[in-house]
Amino acid sequence: MEQTRRPRRLRRDGVRGLVSETSLDPSDLIAPVFVDATAEERVAIESMPGHERVPLSEAVARVEEVLATGVEAVMVFGIPESKDERGSRAWASDGVVQEAVRRITAETDAYVITDVCLCEYTEHGHCGVLTSDARERWEALGSDPSPEGDAGAGEGLTVQNDETLELLARTAVSHAEAGADMVAPSAMADGQVGAIRGALDDAGYGDLPVMAYAVKYESAFYGPFRDAADGAPSFGDRRHYQMDPANRREAMTEAGLDVEEGADVLMVKPALPYLDVVADVRREFDLPVAAYNVSGEYAMLHAADEKGWLDVEAAAHESLLSIKRAGADLILTYFAEDLAPRL
Ligand code: PBG
Repeated sequence: MEQTRRPRRLRRDGVRGLVSETSLDPSDLIAPVFVDATAEERVAIESMPGHERVPLSEAVARVEEVLATGVEAVMVFGIPESKDERGSRAWASDGVVQEAVRRITAETDAYVITDVCLCEYTEHGHCGVLTSDARERWEALGSDPSPEGDAGAGEGLTVQNDETLELLARTAVSHAEAGADMVAPSAMADGQVGAIRGALDDAGYGDLPVMAYAVKYESAFYGPFRDAADGAPSFGDRRHYQMDPANRREAMTEAGLDVEEGADVLMVKPALPYLDVVADVRREFDLPVAAYNVSGEYAMLHAADEKGWLDVEAAAHESLLSIKRAGADLILTYFAEDLAPRL
């Protein structure tokens, strides 16, 4: 058989790199860091090998470690010293994220992004103000909250949308006041980007960009993060505010609304199980697209590596390459520090 077309010709060393369609650069990556107001020393996060919750006194050192690998941006998550029904430590000017951001921006050149949500700050672990019905269910559980997916699961609305917007807006402004370079609302409240954009503009932060967790699915892949940030719902689940994994067209509605409301960057989360959605958002919109390679995507590769079933570094590199190939411009990933020096 005559073979004129032989794709193998371009797969040899020397030419392989020249024809490579996708590249990964440390400047594409954002490293999540966890700052814990209750910790006195660094605490390893068991389900995320290599990651730690650090006390405030170590926040700068933690970010310097990230910068030393060539990664230039961090996403700061906070574990507050106390929680209440509305999550008031989320917008406190002396809250854990605000204090961490103040120190990090004063002492490093990192580009600092903050996650704007309430689930780490509310006693019930939901991303906003409870509905009266959900409040009753929660109170009935008393001191014995059942694990996620148990009591109250799928029993209707848990979080009041519009009452939550004001709290998210306050939180975003407090992060801006502390010196954040960008805010990233992740509560999946309808209208959150518009509410935050308006509040930032009114407070004089018209230049501060918003990275919208535009398309955030109700995913089993957040498990390790909820351990890490202590943000699991103490009853019910997040089904009525996060997206149904079955839906692809709805992602365009979500992203479109965030564009109208003033988002500067559109995020899809998780990443690997939703590469079709990353590609759709890339095709449909002109804004930069971010993808969040979440905690479960990180944990599963480490777990398989520990069993000797695959090589975590090679698998991580391939994962990130795939996320870029699908159309992401930036990637939030717990692999950032490990991979950056090798790129
Ligand atoms: C806060 C938030 C979550 C994640 C990022 N921001 C948890 C959630 O929505 O349950 C998950 C990140 C990860 O799994 O790595 N709402």
